[in-house]
Amino acid sequence: MKKNNYLIYIVLLDVILYITACPRIISRTQWDGKPISIKMQLIQPAYYFIIHQSSSPICFNQTECSIQMRNIQNFHIHSNGLPDIAYNFCIGQDGNVYEGRGWDVQGGDMSSYNAYAINLCFIGTFDTTMPNFKSFLAAQELILCGISKGKVSSAYSLIAHRQISSSDTNCPGNALFSEVKRNLRFDYNPNQSNQFYF
Ligand SMILES: *[C@@H]1O[C@H](CO)[C@@H](O)[C@H](O)[C@H]1NC(C)=O
Ligand SMILES: *[C@@H]1O[C@H](CO)[C@@H](O)[C@H](O)[C@H]1NC(C)=O
Ligand SMILES: [Zn+2]
Repeated sequence: MKKNNYLIYIVLLDVILYITACPRIISRTQWDGKPISIKMQLIQPAYYFIIHQSSSPICFNQTECSIQMRNIQNFHIHSNGLPDIAYNFCIGQDGNVYEGRGWDVQGGDMSSYNAYAINLCFIGTFDTTMPNFKSFLAAQELILCGISKGKVSSAYSLIAHRQISSSDTNCPGNALFSEVKRNLRFDYNPNQSNQFYF
């Protein structure tokens, strides 16, 4: 499938998937993550999805992606001084969703946006390579899953980490950012006040 077709497929899927179940979510226990150690509750329904890349090696099956999840968690705890993996969910190129902090706990490292945002990470480095269609599909399914559970506002917006970072990051990578910008829910001017209008 050509990259240019992503947007139209995602729009169609928005309609089709609305009535379907949640994607396959690999739990923290399944990827052998360390137990969750913080419980700062998200304000729900969450309004923003903040898109990230993990800046770690890409993975194409559950064994490899579980290794990456453990590496990311260890890195965030030992090098970034966070209490847990920063992300609420991660997506592998195997099309699986990997549970981080989940729907209810605030993500780490994104300042005041964390309170009402789901931090969603694509495992890999996406400066020149685009994530595959399977992983975009899993991301879209996860978003709709969150809406159906009342965890996410149906008026949600997508933003990229680089738009709200106080440091100079190119996260989620140039290739992935270009695709995020093409999404109909992309917000060019993130504003923390937006959450209060929905
Ligand atoms: C997962 O991917 C790795 C790296 O490509 C490969 O070596 C391994 O055999 C794969 N494992 C399974 C279960 O497919
Ligand atoms: C954010 O939105 C609020 C409410 O609409 C507005 O008053 C404020 O000026 C906005 N801030 C920015 C930086 O656009
Ligand atoms: Zn990021």
